[in-house]
Amino acid sequence: MSGLPELARRLAGAERVTVLTGAGVSAASGIPTFRGAGGLWKDFRPEELATPEAFARDPETVWEWYAWRRELVARAQPNPAHEVLADWSRRFRRFTLVTQNVDGLHERAGTAGVIRFHGSIWELGCWSSCPSSPRRWPDARVPFPEMPPRCPHCGGLARPGVVWFGEAIDPEVLERSLTSLDCDVCLVVGTSSVVYPAAGLSAEARRRGAFTAEINPETTEASEGVDVSVAGRAEVALLEIDRLLPPREPRPGSVPRESIG
Ligand code: OAD
Repeated sequence: MSGLPELARRLAGAERVTVLTGAGVSAASGIPTFRGAGGLWKDFRPEELATPEAFARDPETVWEWYAWRRELVARAQPNPAHEVLADWSRRFRRFTLVTQNVDGLHERAGTAGVIRFHGSIWELGCWSSCPSSPRRWPDARVPFPEMPPRCPHCGGLARPGVVWFGEAIDPEVLERSLTSLDCDVCLVVGTSSVVYPAAGLSAEARRRGAFTAEINPETTEASEGVDVSVAGRAEVALLEIDRLLPPREPRPGSVPRESIG
């Protein structure tokens, strides 16, 4: 995988690392990507289901799609890509993981402080934003006892706690993501880089002086604009890069193993 040693070298000297992930990172966990082979659910493109208009028209079908994804994710396990990134979250002085994924697998692998750019499939909201419900609340029920699920506060329709096409990114989430682009290395993994504003983040990081890299088995919209493009699968390339990084320095105050006893 050309570009991989250079990326490892940059990471070895980096203190501030920001990683943006997409559906490809969860592919090895058995979660289909949105646009690749096998990504279409019942021949719908994501743009046909993941919109407020689609939900208003046919909430049953939209919920059926999300309930199917929740079942897949509930049975899935984080893969080595999630695990290496979780380890890096403890390795670098400042590490930020911004994910477009709504599956929660980064959190399950042990990455703290994940910025969920597109929300979470494990949260719901009230479709009619009733005044007594919080904007989003956690809900891990698989399967739902009733379909489509209802708002426990007003009894109306509940909606998935994700960001749909045509909806704005939560301003605080956007702000934190933009702040993280002041970094030494910005790495984009497993995304087709076609959905904005997420797709524009690596170019912004580069503009601010970061070394930018992509890991993806396919060429994407972002490939030309990054400093290094690694053609490979996330779960393989990230492990390979991790092996090339120098051993971690002991944390301040920790006792070296050989001096115990
Ligand atoms: P896509 O399905 O558009 O792209 C997945 C990317 O992952 C493709 O570029 C694949 O080449 C790549 N890929 C596949 N297997 C991989 C592997 N093992 N390792 C690394 N890369 C791999 O998914 P996203 O770019 O995440 O929005 O899609 C962006 C948004 O569109 C999603 O967040 C979702 C969707 O509609 C919402 O849920 C709101």
